[in-house]
Amino acid sequence: MYTYVHGGDIYTQKQTADGKAMVDFSANINPLGLPSGVKNAIRNAIKQCVNYPDPFCRELAQATADFLHVDKDWLFFGNGAADVLFRLALALKPKKALLLAPTFADYEKALRSVDCGISYYNLQPKHAFTVQKDILRRITPRTDIVVICNPNNPTGQLTGRELLEHILAKCNAVGAYLLVDECFMDFVDSSRAYSMRNLLADNQKLIILKAFTKTFAIPGVRLGYCLNADGALHKLLHESGQDWSVSVLAQEAGRAALLEKEYLHESYLLIEEERQYLINQLKALGAEVYGSNANYIFFYMEKPVQLKELLHKQGYIIRSCANYHNLGDGYYRIAVKTRVLNRGLIKAIKEARKNALITGTY
Ligand SMILES: Cc1ncc(COP(=O)(O)O)c(C=O)c1O
Repeated sequence: MYTYVHGGDIYTQKQTADGKAMVDFSANINPLGLPSGVKNAIRNAIKQCVNYPDPFCRELAQATADFLHVDKDWLFFGNGAADVLFRLALALKPKKALLLAPTFADYEKALRSVDCGISYYNLQPKHAFTVQKDILRRITPRTDIVVICNPNNPTGQLTGRELLEHILAKCNAVGAYLLVDECFMDFVDSSRAYSMRNLLADNQKLIILKAFTKTFAIPGVRLGYCLNADGALHKLLHESGQDWSVSVLAQEAGRAALLEKEYLHESYLLIEEERQYLINQLKALGAEVYGSNANYIFFYMEKPVQLKELLHKQGYIIRSCANYHNLGDGYYRIAVKTRVLNRGLIKAIKEARKNALITGTY
């Protein structure tokens, strides 16, 4: 049977035994929820659903290019960033990939679907799970693609610009693609956030992955894209799947989302404040908190064991990271949400600890 490994499973059990709705801390979505402009755009676009969507997402591409100050021909859209990953795998058919461990599971899933061999660069707790210079030695003439998630999921750790530029130079030297996943960069504090976008023009093998799903809280609509300056790769991407993977509703939602400047500003402020609140609370509970530069917190809490299950009983879904490569029991990731919900989760963790102590399972 197929096992779903991601967060966001609000469907298997919709409520607690006593009928309380589950609160999902396992998916890292903008806590402000759907922007009103996006909601209206989706509503207004319903009448256009009688037509096929634009296979080239022309209006969305122009709006995104203007928003990011890039060439619109560098953009390729898909049914969420995950869909773009599978397209890239099919288009590039790499034979050997280097992935971080731990990192987002779908790089491996997409690459394995085209029989690509995977090597892992194991991130170390002693370096707080950050990428170190020794990764350069792991990029060899046999490497076809290197994937760096920045900030990384689940750790929330950033790879510095200087090191990334060295990684890019090494990839260029050995003829490998460098895929930098910046899906969570929009949530990083402005003083630390940066993109590799300005290097696209001079690096045809640099690919950047981005998502609307997380930034604008539309994972159910599905909209993501990649940026790359090589026209030949774009042709391959179009040839590697259906022409209509981005629905009319998703294209209109994306265009409307890009107008939501106030929403973005408010969400940065909220996340900054709530991230710090959660970090402080978790540390006070004895957790080791790592990275956490994005809209999620990555931490290690040895006890109570089975924290995920204990919180689930209280109506909170969190992401156990035990099934990531190079991690084990005790590692968790939680989304940053609003204060009321964050406070509720912290209270539930305290409750779980108390019950574990009483029942002698702590
Ligand atoms: C790092 C990273 N990249 C890409 C994706 C896929 O995002 P989307 O929902 O747009 O397919 C995810 C989803 O969790 C993710 O964590």
